Amino acid sequence: MKIVLLLVLISSALSKKIPDRVHEVWGQLIAPYSDECVESSKVNPHQVKNMLTHMHVPNNEQFHDYIKCIYEKLEMLKPDGNFNEELILSKAHYLTKDFLIRCIKNAELEQNLSKKSYILCNCVVEGLVVD
Ligand SMILES: *[C@@H]1O[C@H](CO)[C@@H](O)[C@H](O)[C@H]1NC(C)=O
Repeated sequence: MKIVLLLVLISSALSKKIPDRVHEVWGQLIAPYSDECVESSKVNPHQVKNMLTHMHVPNNEQFHDYIKCIYEKLEMLKPDGNFNEELILSKAHYLTKDFLIRCIKNAELEQNLSKKSYILCNCVVEGLVVD
């Protein structure tokens, strides 16, 4: 019973996709920094690729550090530890303001900037996924 449920969940997760234009814009945004952040965070590069091709945002310490690194390089995460809402909206123009604010609120209480970045990333990706 549990296995069947798990299989159903997995197959529905695999059938979901991030819209192509998001893919493209995000890919261009991270391109100048991704290698450097992969290196400093020691994240598995396949997980970074998977995030782009599937809706999967890995939840592990290395990925948390990777996404923080990316957000910092893009100046989406300010040195004071807050997200730069205007800048995120101007760069990631596939996001609506209301949606972004909701995701920022989700992440706001987390003190650890790596985890905070992950929470934002995961929230955004979940909201962008289409069936
Ligand atoms: C913050 O989170 C990261 C990634 O999850 C972890 O590696 C790091 O040790 C944490 N830092 C603190 C100060 O807890």
